[in-house]
Amino acid sequence: MEAVNPYYSIPVKIKKIIPETSNITTFILDGMPIQFEAGQFAELTVPGVGEAPFTPSSSPHGDDLEFTIMKVGRVTSALFELKEGDQVGVRGPFGKPYPLKEFKGKEIFIVGGGVGFAPLRSLFLALLHNIKDYKKIYIRYGARTPNDIVYKHLIPEWEKIDGVDILLTVDVGDDSWQGKVGVVTVILDEIPVDVASSPAIVCGPPLMMKFVTQRLVEAGFKHSNIYLSMEKNMSCGIGKCNHCRVGKFYVCKDGPVLTWEDVKDIEEPFL
Ligand SMILES: Cc1cc2nc3c(=O)[nH]c(=O)nc-3n(C[C@H](O)[C@H](O)[C@H](O)COP(=O)(O)OP(=O)(O)OC[C@H]3O[C@@H](n4cnc5c(N)ncnc54)[C@H](O)[C@@H]3O)c2cc1C
Ligand code: FES
Repeated sequence: MEAVNPYYSIPVKIKKIIPETSNITTFILDGMPIQFEAGQFAELTVPGVGEAPFTPSSSPHGDDLEFTIMKVGRVTSALFELKEGDQVGVRGPFGKPYPLKEFKGKEIFIVGGGVGFAPLRSLFLALLHNIKDYKKIYIRYGARTPNDIVYKHLIPEWEKIDGVDILLTVDVGDDSWQGKVGVVTVILDEIPVDVASSPAIVCGPPLMMKFVTQRLVEAGFKHSNIYLSMEKNMSCGIGKCNHCRVGKFYVCKDGPVLTWEDVKDIEEPFL
C-alpha cells in the first residue's frame, strides 16, 4: 500500500516499552498511524535526532504498531533513551510485502536469526490471522545465547497453536537451556516440508542469511520460493537516492522482500 505522503512523518506516542534482550527492545506505539502489509517497512523518526528504517513486528491487523529494534548507533541509541509517553514520528509504509496470496494452501517455512525475527513475527501474525489458508507454519529461529532470544514471553503460547511447529537453537547454551545448541543451520538438517512447493522466508544477520540460503537451495527449495528480507543502508526510502541498491534492485522500492532468484547472480548480495 502506498503512503499518501511519504515525506510526512506522523507523530505518535510510545505506549509501552518491552525490553526483549540486553540490546533489543520492542516499542509499542499508541495506535496504527499507517496501514501496512507484513514485510513492508517504515521510517521511524526520533525528534531532533533523525530517522531510520524498521519493519513493523506487529500484526498488520492489530490495533497498535510495534517495532522490535536493536540498539546499534545514533538513531537507535536515542530511541532507547525515550520513555513511555514520549513521541516519535512514523512515515510509510514503503516497499513490497510478503506475497501472502502465493503462500495459500502451502506449508510455510520461516527461518530467523537475532533481531531478524521482527518482520517474521509480523508475517507469522498475519498468517495466523487466516491460519486455515495455510497447511502448516514452521518457525526455525536462532539466537546467540538463551538471553538473546526475542519474544521469549510469546513463544510458549505460539507453540501451543495447532498447525504451528517451532524449533529454536542458540549458538552458546547455559545451565537453563534444554534445547538445541549450534548456529541456525543445525536446526535445518531436517526440513519437514514439501520443498518443491513450499515458500521459505528468511531474515537475519548477513552471514546467517547467506548460510541459510545455501542450505535451503541444497535442500531443494525453488530459488523463486526463497524470500529474503534484505537490509541496506537507506536514505530517501522511495527509490530516488541510490543508497540501497542491490544489483538492479532498490531495496526500498523493489524490496525489502526479494527472492533468491532475484539476487543470486549478484556478488555478495547480503553484504
Ligand atoms: C528495510 C529495513 C528494515 C529494518 N528493520 C529493522 C528492524 O525491524 N529492527 C532493527 O533493529 N533494525 C532494522 N533495520 C536496521 C536499522 O535500520 C538500522 O539498525 C538503523 O538504521 C541503524 O540506525 P542508527 O542511527 O542507530 O545507526 P548508525 O549510527 O547509522 O549506524 C550504526 C552501525 O549500524 C550500521 N548500520 C546502519 N544502518 C544499517 C542498516 N540499514 N543495515 C545494516 N547496518 C546498518 C552502520 O554501518 C554502523 O556500523 C532495518 C533496515 C532496513 C533497511
Ligand atoms: S533509499 Fe533511496 S533509493 Fe532506496
